[in-house]
Amino acid sequence: MRLGTAAMNIRGYESGDEQSIVQLWNSALRNDPINMPVFERKILLEPNFDPRGCILAFESATLVGYAQCMVRRYPNYHDGLEQGKGWITVFMAGTPAVGDAVLRSAGDYFAAKGANQLWFSGFTPNYFWPGIDASSYPHLHKMLLDAGYVDASEALAMDAPLWPEFRLPPDIDEIERRLEKEGIVVRSPETADLVSLLDFLRTNFSADWYRHCLDQLSAGASKSQFTIAVRGREVLGYAQFWDGDGYDWWGPGEHFGPFGVKESQRGKGLGSVILKRTLENMRKSGSHHAFFLWTDRRAARLYERFGFRVSRRFTVMRKEVAG
Ligand SMILES: CC(C)(COP(=O)(O)OP(=O)(O)OC[C@H]1O[C@@H](n2cnc3c(N)ncnc32)[C@H](O)[C@@H]1OP(=O)(O)O)[C@@H](O)C(=O)NCCC(=O)NCCS
Repeated sequence: MRLGTAAMNIRGYESGDEQSIVQLWNSALRNDPINMPVFERKILLEPNFDPRGCILAFESATLVGYAQCMVRRYPNYHDGLEQGKGWITVFMAGTPAVGDAVLRSAGDYFAAKGANQLWFSGFTPNYFWPGIDASSYPHLHKMLLDAGYVDASEALAMDAPLWPEFRLPPDIDEIERRLEKEGIVVRSPETADLVSLLDFLRTNFSADWYRHCLDQLSAGASKSQFTIAVRGREVLGYAQFWDGDGYDWWGPGEHFGPFGVKESQRGKGLGSVILKRTLENMRKSGSHHAFFLWTDRRAARLYERFGFRVSRRFTVMRKEVAG
């Protein structure tokens, strides 16, 4: 793809562009630096990566803008191809003119792929943020608004200290005893739980949660990185924790979640006990903090009882393109 004026050249990714992209990223997105292994794993090795969807704007030979557009080429387990959807997972531009040119090219790319419901930015699995951090990057938020994206929802990132101690709700032991009387036990899974755990995820949650658990277990993660609530062998809830964005993402680290309880079982304390047990296991693996990127205000109340505080707010953005 080659578009643009004499001064600005817009094209898709070509091998050799990687250093320029990572360099621009680290100067343009100062609160979200990455390194080359993260760029490799989450962008170049993402199975749905299409060089034409990696939209790069150059002035002379200098990279000045970038939008990473994603459309599914392969089905996402039980969520399928999610036809009609497109995602911008990364966006950066130094000036409104560059932003406008990059987002127009992104629009052309999505139109050619038949995508008319566009999102910034939660493409799974390889998203970087749920949406735009408008407080860190107000100029990028404005460029997206000017291009017709609207604010769709809020996603809260939260962090909690786990060291030297962590906060617990005062009634947590009592809740656990009450659940045990009902035959509900909260523990790490054993080999005999694996099939029930995956069934639970497939039946109750989006394909991304199923995939996340499957990939992490298949990579060799310790079962202590998972917590399940079970009645007999029936899984009623679960959480997991993991590491960063690099190749060893699946190992123990500070990233908490996903975390979910079967709808019919919510509100009776399972989530609190699962969270407690998972945070304890994170401490035992050496983590001093826990964090996650994406929750809503209601679940935030539960996290606050464990010492989590909102650390960042993201705005999920959406654009509907008339067919
Ligand atoms: C969040 C969740 C895991 C909590 O499990 P739970 O067993 O209901 O939790 P507890 O009974 O220990 O605590 C109740 C608290 O959970 C949260 N909660 C309950 N139902 C919820 C729901 N449908 N969505 C989001 N949060 C919910 C609330 O903070 C609630 O506290 P409140 O009574 O003051 O509103 C569970 O509700 C769930 O699976 N929600 C959908 C998935 C989700 O939002 N996961 C967390 C995203 S990071």
